[in-house]
Amino acid sequence: MTFSNAQKEKLLEISQGEVLFDEPMAAYSTMKIGGPADALIRPRDTQKLKEVMGYAISNEMPYMFWGAGSDILVRDKGMRGLIIQLSQGFNDLTISGENADEIFVAAGAGLQTAALVRFTSDNGLKGTEWLAGIPGTIGGNVLTNAGTPEGSIADVIEEIGIVDRGLKELTVKRKALEFSYRSLKLPRSTAVVRAVLKLKRDDASQVKERINQIMVKRKTTQPYDAPTLGCIFKNPKEGRAGILIDEAGLKGVRVGKARVSELHANFIVNEDGAAARDVEILIGLIRERVKQKFGVVLETEIRIIGET
Ligand code: EPU
Repeated sequence: MTFSNAQKEKLLEISQGEVLFDEPMAAYSTMKIGGPADALIRPRDTQKLKEVMGYAISNEMPYMFWGAGSDILVRDKGMRGLIIQLSQGFNDLTISGENADEIFVAAGAGLQTAALVRFTSDNGLKGTEWLAGIPGTIGGNVLTNAGTPEGSIADVIEEIGIVDRGLKELTVKRKALEFSYRSLKLPRSTAVVRAVLKLKRDDASQVKERINQIMVKRKTTQPYDAPTLGCIFKNPKEGRAGILIDEAGLKGVRVGKARVSELHANFIVNEDGAAARDVEILIGLIRERVKQKFGVVLETEIRIIGET
């Protein structure tokens, strides 16, 4: 779908100029891959967000939300419709409450996870150390229930703020949220605008030390600085995806400019200008080999969207 001039003007007006048309999504991806979005729009506050969603819904335009592009692959021909990115205006971070045991931290959905980790480290707050080095935004982390074997965001969520398809702003308490391994059951048309996390006080130097240890491990066992989407596959119930891919002899295997990392086999590295198609073919090849060798069907942790 391409927008008519009248629609473009309306989108420019609603967003106060914060909209880009035919915008290559590679620039918004941690893997530096992705075809163009019809429109990438950045509402500045919840009111603007509601106007954008309302406009898309009443005009039957598809829309989706974008975080840090660290868990999603946009195919080479790109995305039709509207990509809504909550960034400026959605990146506040405050202590919202406290009791004898707990301290509550409210974070906007567009806040970079790294900023939250820094805040917890500076303020001696424990409970999210395992988030260190996980890319993304708080909104994206909530929707994907980001985590490691040491913990996941569901463990520390107190409540989240959403805007639903009916444009209602709601607060949803943890007990009403259906989290599971790397996912949250929430309609894709609903925006997550903030999250309140429940943490505990600790000595700042100890929190810092635990974060440092996690970062050292991450940097030595994962291609941390390379353009990747993090782990490509979920860990299956039969074991670890990384070990299965490694033992299938796939480290270093390439399709075009996409390569299975030699450091951690569950990562695919964009060597230099890989196409989404290269990555998708490589994913298919990995699944096939692991299935042949171990009889295990790997499921992707990343989402793949858009047109080929
Ligand atoms: N291993 C291999 N070969 C490899 C990779 C790993 O033998 O190529 C072995 C390691 O030596 C280790 C074991 O596999 O003994 C587990 O490795 P790791 O500690 O890296 O854990 P993982 O299960 O592979 C999970 C998360 C990562 C997260 C790490 C933190 C999933 C799918 N992956 O990886 O998350 O960073 O733990 O320890 O849950 C992500 O979600 O994007 C992600 C990278």
